Amino acid sequence: MAQEDIFKKLVAHCKEYGYVFPSSEIYDGLGAVYDYGQYGVELKNNIKKYWWDSMVLLHENIVGLDSAIFMHPTIWKASGHVDAFNDPLIDNRDSKKRYRADVLIEEQLEKLDEKREKEVEKARSRFGEKFDEALYRSTNPRVVEITEKYDLLHKRFVDAMAGPDLAELRQIIVDNEIVCPVSGTKNWTDVRQFNLMFATEIGSTSDGALKIYLRPETAQGIFVNFLNVQKSGRMKIPFGIAQIGKAFRNEIVARQFIFRMREFEQMEMQFFVRPGTELEWFGKWKEARMKWHRALGFGNENYRFHDHDKLAHYANAATDIEYKFPFGFKEVEGIHSRTDFDLRQHQEFSGKKMQYFDPELNESYTPYVIETSIGVDRMFLQVMAASYYEEDLSKDGVPDSRVVLRLPSVLAPVKLAVLPLVRKDGLPDISRKIIDGLKFDFNCQYDEKDSIGKRYRRQDAIGTPYCITIDYQTAEDETVTIRYRDSMLQERVPIAQLRSIIADKVSMQEQLKKL
Ligand code: GAP
Repeated sequence: MAQEDIFKKLVAHCKEYGYVFPSSEIYDGLGAVYDYGQYGVELKNNIKKYWWDSMVLLHENIVGLDSAIFMHPTIWKASGHVDAFNDPLIDNRDSKKRYRADVLIEEQLEKLDEKREKEVEKARSRFGEKFDEALYRSTNPRVVEITEKYDLLHKRFVDAMAGPDLAELRQIIVDNEIVCPVSGTKNWTDVRQFNLMFATEIGSTSDGALKIYLRPETAQGIFVNFLNVQKSGRMKIPFGIAQIGKAFRNEIVARQFIFRMREFEQMEMQFFVRPGTELEWFGKWKEARMKWHRALGFGNENYRFHDHDKLAHYANAATDIEYKFPFGFKEVEGIHSRTDFDLRQHQEFSGKKMQYFDPELNESYTPYVIETSIGVDRMFLQVMAASYYEEDLSKDGVPDSRVVLRLPSVLAPVKLAVLPLVRKDGLPDISRKIIDGLKFDFNCQYDEKDSIGKRYRRQDAIGTPYCITIDYQTAEDETVTIRYRDSMLQERVPIAQLRSIIADKVSMQEQLKKL
């Protein structure tokens, strides 16, 4: 099945099984805003706990923070968001659809890249083992031609974005004959800048009201509290401040479900270091964050770094951790060496000293910052995309299939389901008693409706790793069967051992020990 079809099915699955609902659905929804259902909220909480504990529990020099969403508007002036947090927009006059000019060009670059890779793959299968890829790439006229086209377009694009030169962005779209995917025409307007921050007012009268913004990142709440935390916690550099919270961006091209939302959640950590040591720390955090992702067991080959060749003016190194989504390798997390830009800006705009006295050096300085920044929702989508499987279980000509969410047990919303084989003869009572014994440790679910086979399928679809079945033998010898979601194997175990069998497998502690 095509990857896009799988993705569509995943989106439908998220709704059908209580993971993610479109926001305000009975009023026809609100673009790029979503609600999390009964299982979604549990998965989200587990992802947040994995991140929070990996930062705050495992590092004695990282502490947490929960800063407000509303902040003084000058913060966004100082950070550069008022002047520069813009997307270049272009409209198609025929379809009346609005696009991000940079995204249209990036998609054109992706098309060229795909074309080139197709040529290389064709040649690989034609030449077999004798294939010299490097030689082919540098000499095959078709590949060389595509590469030259790609490089030229890439250079023009990077230069135009650096300005940004809006007229040049439009010209690139025209020169490359990029058409509107809806109308198929090249009838484009000029490119305009559009600020992504949502604004509102604070205060009761229109005279006294102050225009403020919904924060577009949680990071600034950390920077403006840098001294509060450092002083009250007697923190010594190097140290970090971690925060999880909502962020808001008026995204114009909001696509791919919860990949790009207007209201989303971020998990950000700012790590304050001595100037001059930032690139060493950048390397350390790059590795640490990749390890965190890979420890979930979705296959190391599905992750890669994408180092930025074009850096933001405040950064001296930046990389993305990308995951292979059904729609290609895409950013899940950004790691940035932000220099002392933010603290210096806040010092200038607030007039308050944002410096640290280093007792070892006996001097004061503005610390440099390494930032790790990951979207909870994007991580959620990554976990769901990696866990969603449609399996053909047909046997001896009898068709059968299942949809299973192979979620890592530590993240699964429901850890175990207790299922009485029949709804009588005391089996429901035994089941309830087992849940009463385990519910303080694990999120348990009771289900007695439908055949046992149907109930297993329901649990597979929500990703419950363990199903405990209570049958007549249970009443006699206090044993149950435990059925494993991924292998579908079953084994008989004493009720008394259930806690320890399951605890090992779903333990956050064990997951954190992998880091
Ligand atoms: N403080 C740095 C910062 O905000 P960013 O690359 O703009 O950097 C960091 O965002 C992460 O936040 C991204 O890697 C992504 O996971 C998530 N993110 C950003 N915009 C998002 C959106 N519109 N919807 C969902 N997640 C988003």
